[in-house]
Amino acid sequence: MSHNIESTLIEERLFSPSDEFVKQARITPDKLQQLRAEADEDYTGFWANRANQEISWKTPFSDVLDESQAPHFRWFGDGELNISANCLDRHLETRGDKTAIIFEGEQGDTRHISYKVLHGEVCAMANALKSYGVRCGDRVVIYMPMTPEAVIAMQACARIGAIHSVVFGGFSAESLKDRIEDAGAKILITADGGHRGGKIVALKAAADAALKAGCPGIEKVIVLQRTQQPIEMQSGRDIWWHDAVANQAKTCEPEWVNSEHPLFLLYTSGSTGKPKGIQHASAGYLLGAITSCKWVFDLQEKDVFWCTADVGWITGHTYVAYGPLAVGGTIVIYEGAPTVPDSGRFWKLCQDHKVTIFYTAPTALRALMKLGDEIPNQYDLSSIRLLGTVGEPINPEAWMWYHTVIGKTRCPIVDTWWQTETGAHVIAPIPGATVTKPGSCTHALPGMDVDIVDEQGNSITAANQGGYLVIKKPWPAMLRNVWGDEQRYKETYWGMFDGKYYLAGDSARRDADGYFWIMGRIDDVLNVSGHRLGTMEIESALVANPLVAEAAVVGCPDEIKGEAVFAFVVLKDERPAGGVSDELTQQLRTWVGEQIGPIAKPDQMRFADNLPKTRSGKIMRRLLRTIAKGEEITQDTSTLENESILKQLQGIE
Ligand code: WT7
Repeated sequence: MSHNIESTLIEERLFSPSDEFVKQARITPDKLQQLRAEADEDYTGFWANRANQEISWKTPFSDVLDESQAPHFRWFGDGELNISANCLDRHLETRGDKTAIIFEGEQGDTRHISYKVLHGEVCAMANALKSYGVRCGDRVVIYMPMTPEAVIAMQACARIGAIHSVVFGGFSAESLKDRIEDAGAKILITADGGHRGGKIVALKAAADAALKAGCPGIEKVIVLQRTQQPIEMQSGRDIWWHDAVANQAKTCEPEWVNSEHPLFLLYTSGSTGKPKGIQHASAGYLLGAITSCKWVFDLQEKDVFWCTADVGWITGHTYVAYGPLAVGGTIVIYEGAPTVPDSGRFWKLCQDHKVTIFYTAPTALRALMKLGDEIPNQYDLSSIRLLGTVGEPINPEAWMWYHTVIGKTRCPIVDTWWQTETGAHVIAPIPGATVTKPGSCTHALPGMDVDIVDEQGNSITAANQGGYLVIKKPWPAMLRNVWGDEQRYKETYWGMFDGKYYLAGDSARRDADGYFWIMGRIDDVLNVSGHRLGTMEIESALVANPLVAEAAVVGCPDEIKGEAVFAFVVLKDERPAGGVSDELTQQLRTWVGEQIGPIAKPDQMRFADNLPKTRSGKIMRRLLRTIAKGEEITQDTSTLENESILKQLQGIE
């Protein structure tokens, strides 16, 4: 975190959009000013106007914002719509033959799917789900590779009012089971596997393990045949996707739902051991997805938009499965890893599919930047007109590389700050209007009331002084609840400022020009390669191992990943005199991979006879963070029972 503050404080370079970009942009500086003025003048009226313009309603709303149940807010609460109809049906007449999805598998297979065909496939799957007894409000878990069928499954749920919960394919059987059970899902949609990094990800095997360990509510498992590798199919329970849709009609009347009907749950890590099911509503979420696609991505008719995120994350929901389709765009979906067959894959995809807008994570850029300019320079990137980043602060060096080597100094960069909970972009540049600074996500979007406050909730106006990032007014795309745990919803997001402000969980500062700079999380949440991981979650996984007595996990700055996972472990048995074997270290890493997923595997582990604790028994995390960074200890350690453990924790003894 602090390394980021230092490097960004000296950032004074400014980048204005080119005249050429401004000329063709949806939102010009004048237009932006108008939008801001409109939002300032009448905040709810501003959102009502947007909702009327951007959404196709079955039943128009009259009630814009209902705050009577705060902090549960209702937006457009008496309106009725269907999300899938907004993403597909409304384009059939004008864009039926337009390509909605350009798909490329890791092995190079490609498919172009038109809006008409996509609509038919979504309807067929929607009908199949209905035939298996899925009703409006039922939960469906989706555990799939990055194929068009993942989007089709999500849209099919939306079409019939079923609530989907996508579980990232990189999560383990154990994580899948927990999420299925917490959501109370009755259908699981998965695949025989997916191609990733030259290997096959055995999704069905993981699904089988999850269902064997629990999930009594699951009645049917729909299995996409993607890799053709042999898998087990349990008769009566498991159905091939192609069989499920074989005799289904390619039309399906959308289920008209209330604006507030839950569209999906998406589990994300917090500061306890248990991930929380972030619950989003329908209309407000869709509105945030549409307005941000138009304002921040300047998404237009001719664009080919590629957001590299997996549908297992919020980015893959808002900027793959919903937003770009709702505005009638063409999206690219790529199944595999950026390094297959070599590290030019992303750039080759941009070249081959003439990508015009490219959106990815700083961690990917840093990894690709390290390999040199020769690789991207082999490809024709002239189709690209806009670049974006998301997930973590981008260091100015990576920003400049993105700007010069990928964007050839021609393309604006939109650094977008938002969260699973916010549903859509909150702080981000408007590419045809905002002057950008490398490393800053710039300003809040129109209609978003974002501030930085101190512990008492007072606005911090002094330049460059860090504080809590808060959102002071409800916004349409906001989360509505934590599934099955209202208390946690209230405490986590609304507890700190007495229900007045939404607490994002990030610290931030504003510079003298009013630009926002995100400094990092204030809770025990790590950001590893743009993915959120709770330290408690990894600790619970470690202590669930029979060999482990205690564990503490902290983040440690990492050049590529942003943050790396550093685990301090106390074993039940005595620490071996010659140190803990590499085998045991590997065994515990693998264990964490099995409990949560490979992304959670500790990058480094230190073993000690005890953890550093205060007199009251609290683990001194700050001290552990210092040790993890390899910095000199300046904290008071006199309260430690056994000072010799310090040497063990530092890896000296
Ligand atoms: C956390 C949210 C939002 C989609 C991906 C992650 C960090 C996100 C930025 C950015 C600095 C960022 C924050 C935030 N974050 N975007 N542009 N600059 N930090 O979603 O898993 O819900 O994580 O990611 O810390 O709170 P998420």
